[in-house]
Amino acid sequence: MTALSALETDAAIVVEHVARREQPADGETVARLRAEFPRLHGLFRALYGDRATSLESLLTLIDAVLDARADRPAELRRLDRDRAARPTWFESERMLGGVCYVDRFAGDLDGVRKMIPYFRELGLTYLHLMPLFASPEGDNDGGYAVSDYRTVDPALGTMADLRALAADLRDAGISLVLDFIFNHTSNEHEWATRALAGDPVYENFYLIFPDRELPDAYERTTREIFPDDHPGSFVPLPDGRWIWATFYRFQWDLNYANPDVFTAMAREMLFLANQGVEILRMDAVAFIWKRLGTTCESQPEAHLLLQAFNAVLRIAAPAVLFKSEAIVHPDEVQDYISPDECQLSYNPLQMALTWEALATRDARLLQLALDERHELPPGTAWVNYVRSHDDIGWTFADEDAARFGIDGGPHRRFLNDFYIGRFAGSFSRGFPFQENPRTGDARIAGTTASLAGIAAGDDGGEDRVVLAHALAMSTGGIPLLYLGDEVAQLNDDTFQDDPARRGDSRWAHRPERPSERYEERRDESTVAGRVFTRLRHLIDVRRATTEFAGNELIPFHTPHAAVVGFIRPATDEHGGAVLVLANVADEPAAIPSETVSGLDESAWDLIRDSAVGLGRGLVLPAHAFVWLRVRRL
Ligand code: GLC
Ligand code: GLC
Repeated sequence: MTALSALETDAAIVVEHVARREQPADGETVARLRAEFPRLHGLFRALYGDRATSLESLLTLIDAVLDARADRPAELRRLDRDRAARPTWFESERMLGGVCYVDRFAGDLDGVRKMIPYFRELGLTYLHLMPLFASPEGDNDGGYAVSDYRTVDPALGTMADLRALAADLRDAGISLVLDFIFNHTSNEHEWATRALAGDPVYENFYLIFPDRELPDAYERTTREIFPDDHPGSFVPLPDGRWIWATFYRFQWDLNYANPDVFTAMAREMLFLANQGVEILRMDAVAFIWKRLGTTCESQPEAHLLLQAFNAVLRIAAPAVLFKSEAIVHPDEVQDYISPDECQLSYNPLQMALTWEALATRDARLLQLALDERHELPPGTAWVNYVRSHDDIGWTFADEDAARFGIDGGPHRRFLNDFYIGRFAGSFSRGFPFQENPRTGDARIAGTTASLAGIAAGDDGGEDRVVLAHALAMSTGGIPLLYLGDEVAQLNDDTFQDDPARRGDSRWAHRPERPSERYEERRDESTVAGRVFTRLRHLIDVRRATTEFAGNELIPFHTPHAAVVGFIRPATDEHGGAVLVLANVADEPAAIPSETVSGLDESAWDLIRDSAVGLGRGLVLPAHAFVWLRVRRL
């Protein structure tokens, strides 16, 4: 049978199946099912083979999708239509993200709702709430060990509260973003407890091995993600068997080679979509497919699975977008980004290289990333951030570093030492995260203010905080603030005294909401006030600058290694172009007139709202930046 005829035969079976459903699907949904079916069918066959069971699984999946569509509330169907009419809504210069833990920032979901006026004051259009689902008592990886995707942690509220919050946020022009933690469940999820009890259906939801033979074989090529917790990728079960656990011992990886797992997780995903979540942060995408003899990261099937989830959403909840969390080699990061897979992605390379440039006072690697690794397909966007709730890992490409004669391994060790504050003269006060004595690998933790020099009392600290955010706000895509950073919050050292957090230094940069700092935010005699005022102003300027929409960026090179430069061209016929220059060094950089000779002499400084002449070049003070509206000659 040829592929085409398989599609035709299966499509006919599906049509009949759909017609026999008790609850008939509406015309719009059927049209979308028709449009997506060939893709979904192809993906299913590629993943699960052309066996009859694969068709049977597909029919089960389609039922789940149509059920979810039938449950989709009217206001979310309206959102589906609005988004379809303005598919590039997320590329706007008005987009600004914020992220926080519900409990740490606001106590509970009601507390988050009460914070909406502040979110509006700040200009947020996107709010990522860290995992808020039922999860094990005590250590649960900050909620990334989910025991039930349909139950909100009772300490935070209920699912009804979450739905109401999503609606209130939407009314305030803010899209709710939640994680879809689909690589693993907690060991207390019902599937996990059934698997442990020996139910063969659920044993097949996870990757369980009777002895060390296969675990040993896999571990020859996998990397250790949380070596402080357990070596390798497996942990023992009480009965002596071994289960795959990439992250913590209580986070068990799901077996996506089993189509029932895909369907079961698609149901959970659609449930979340129907609560009013507008963007799903696809957690740990690189790890979802395992293949012996490989790193078990970013396998081709990982992409097929994401595309299949994408097709499912397009049928039942098309307004919803995916954001990829792939903290891997930059080539691999890019592979997850497309309208048919993840429309959004963290930009871990720009994030890490911003810090790299601040430490080395050399912006060449960052410039190279903007020159060669920034472009994205139409209909997609970067999410640019200065730091997240996770550690900072130095995920630049060794081959890029080699172009400047930099050896990746030692350079990463230098960066770790620098940010931990072990390097003489460092302005940073960070913590090591998951130092692996066997491999020499480590990552770092710390809040933006603590890493940038404010904690150490360094003169450039405040400037560096603002500079790092200015880059995230100007290179394109959606800038994402870690709430608390806008008032220069410092590290929280108390995690070291808490048994549930002690083993994970990422808690250093997940402090509780600093109320005093927020109270000081308009008082420019305070650090919080100065940083807030400057960032708040950048946000206003950005919102009023259409050149900052979209992702297009034209490199702009200066003779200074410490200066990163680029032009954001107009997205419409009215705009000019915006030249961004940033100096990561501790001394001023003079940009000679020849460098700007391709530009009209009279430019407009968007941040100071004043004219500047470029006839004699310009001088960028230490750790300063400019956003200049220019006319290219
Ligand atoms: C993601 C999360 C991280 C978590 C891990 C396991 O990387 O960002 O916080 O530890 O997934 O879920
Ligand atoms: C590793 C993973 C990344 C995860 C992080 C959590 O870097 O690659 O996905 O976010 O660990 O610390």
